[in-house]
Parts: sequence; structure tokens; C-alpha cells
Amino acid sequence: MKLFLDTADLNEIRELASWGVIDGVTTNPTLLAKSGFSFQEVLAQIFTIVDGPISLEVISEKADDMVNEAQGIVKKTPEKYRKNIAIKIPMTPEGLKAVRILTREGIHTNVTLVFSANQALLAAKAGATYVSPFIGRLDDNGQDGMVLIEEIMDIFNNYDIETEVIVASIRHPIHVIDAARIGADIATVPPEILRKMAKHPLTDNGIKSFLKDWEKVKK
Ligand code: E4P
Repeated sequence: MKLFLDTADLNEIRELASWGVIDGVTTNPTLLAKSGFSFQEVLAQIFTIVDGPISLEVISEKADDMVNEAQGIVKKTPEKYRKNIAIKIPMTPEGLKAVRILTREGIHTNVTLVFSANQALLAAKAGATYVSPFIGRLDDNGQDGMVLIEEIMDIFNNYDIETEVIVASIRHPIHVIDAARIGADIATVPPEILRKMAKHPLTDNGIKSFLKDWEKVKK
């Protein structure tokens, strides 16, 4: 399973990319607002840090405006990084129209704010490169988000659909394990969850006792 980082914080991306486990990055306007970096700063630097798909979201609501925004992002990105752009498009009828146009232009898309298997199927049929079902927000709302991942994976596997599933809105490390067991293509993980995935108290205790015992034998 591929792991994407779900943040627009360039410092976090730089640090966590150095672990060698990050395959891409997803951002959205809320993550940008939290990061303290402007969209232009992120656009200028993010492709130099991670060599993999980078999702950048459009904020227009009409298909033509989304397409213009997406083309603007592509234009501002140096040619060598353009293959890594994934334009994040909200899952609406206008979004589907935009995905169809961008796909024909060879621009990768990530259809976001997906909350049902039918939405994922429509996004795939429109040509989306990725779909992003938001499991944490479903859990928050009293619905089991992971069931949605099972449904989408079943449907996509039944028809050999090439659109990749990004499990998004991850709230804890067990979400990542469940997504991997189901066979989802990608999990996009907030920095704090990636840190939790790396940590185990028995690892920390083990290091402590090895260091203590080393003191007894090092001379
Ligand atoms: C990623 O593509 C999504 O924008 C993100 O995972 C949403 O997460 P949230 O529900 O915690 O805001």
C-alpha cells in the first residue's frame, strides 16, 4: 500500500519524507490554512521535496472555472514536476464534468469529499485518477467509514477499474491497518498518525534497557 502524507506543512513534509516511506502528499484548503504556508509557497516547494503524486485542490464550483484553475496550477509548475500534479476536485456533477475535461487533457485528478460507493463509481467513470473517500468524517457521523472502503474496493475489483482509492480522513493508526488489510491502494496519513505508526512503547523500553546494559559491558 502506498502512503501519502496528509498535510500542507512543508517542514513536516521535509522531515517525514526523510524517513523514506512517503509516496505522495495530499493537501486541501483547511490543511493549507493550518500549515501557515501560502498556496504559492507550497506550490513553489512541495514538488522538490516529494517525488510522487501531490494533490492540490481547486476552490471553484463551476466546471469551467475548476478547469481554468487546474490549468493555472499546471502552468505555474515547472515542466519536470507536472507528471506529479493531481488536481483535487470536489465530488459534484460540476466536478465530474471538470474531471472528464482534465482527463482528456492528460491532467491527473483526485476526486475528493467522496462519501458513498456510487460517488466513487461515478468519479471513476468520469476518468478520475484517484478517489478520496473520507472515512473519519463518516465515523464522526455514526457510520462505519471502513465499510465504504470495502464497498468501493469490491466494485473497483469487480470491473478492473484503474482509479486508485485513497483512504482519507484517517483518524488513528488502526484505520491504516484496516485499509491495508482490505487492499486499498493508498492511505493518506496526517503527520501525527505517521509518528504513532512508527512508535511502540516496547521498542522504547527495549532501547532503554539495551543502553543501560551496554553501560555495564562497554569497557
Ligand atoms: C485528504 O485528502 C483529505 O482532505 C483529508 O484527509 C480530510 O481529513 P479530515 O476529515 O480530517 O479533514
